[in-house]
Amino acid sequence: MDVSAPSVAVRRRAADAWAEIAQLEHASVASFARFTLQLMAVGAPPQLVAAALQAGLDEVAHARAAFGQASRFRGEPVGPGPLPLERDVFGPAGPADLAALAADAFTEGCVNETIGALEAASAAEMCVDDPGARILWTRIAEEEARHGELAWAFVRWSLAQGGAPVRAAVRAAFDRASEVLAVDDGAVVASPDDDALRRLGLLCETDRRAIRRRGFAEIVRPTMETLGL
Ligand SMILES: [Fe+2]
Ligand SMILES: [Fe+2]
Repeated sequence: MDVSAPSVAVRRRAADAWAEIAQLEHASVASFARFTLQLMAVGAPPQLVAAALQAGLDEVAHARAAFGQASRFRGEPVGPGPLPLERDVFGPAGPADLAALAADAFTEGCVNETIGALEAASAAEMCVDDPGARILWTRIAEEEARHGELAWAFVRWSLAQGGAPVRAAVRAAFDRASEVLAVDDGAVVASPDDDALRRLGLLCETDRRAIRRRGFAEIVRPTMETLGL
């Protein structure tokens, strides 16, 4: 696409949005590296370990492509710097607290990755002015959905292994996620550039909130019910 077509303001916002997306994708590489170690620490089956390693590689590709988009819109290279990793590698709960790990996987994977997949699919659909971004979002949607499935598989396995404490921790994580969803209801100021950004595959906050609600109601809650939670 001709990136000189959007206004300077839209290009600047697109560059910032892609840079922010890229940083989140980049941080996800570290999350999956940690998750892989955590899976091994609790003796999870090798297919889950393999899926976590693959997910980390997917995130490397997402980060690289998103930094590429940011660079394109900014007109200069944008890339990752050192990633602050203040939490120790296993997080505050320690490596073998299965209930805490299942709760974290629920929040980060079952909720955030699932909703990330829906956001990516929606971005692909709206993205009519940047064919490269449309292809990228389509790929990201498929892969984030797989990452969500990995989290559900780990939660199922943890429930089978750990019983009541895991059940209680995942249920509490679900309740916390529902509360977060209920409070982020404040008004969002629409910008005249929102449509131009959507056409470049960049959702605005109103879109994201609607998708979060839909993902929670249509996927997260029903899947919890199938697990008897
Ligand atoms: Fe990703
Ligand atoms: Fe992901």
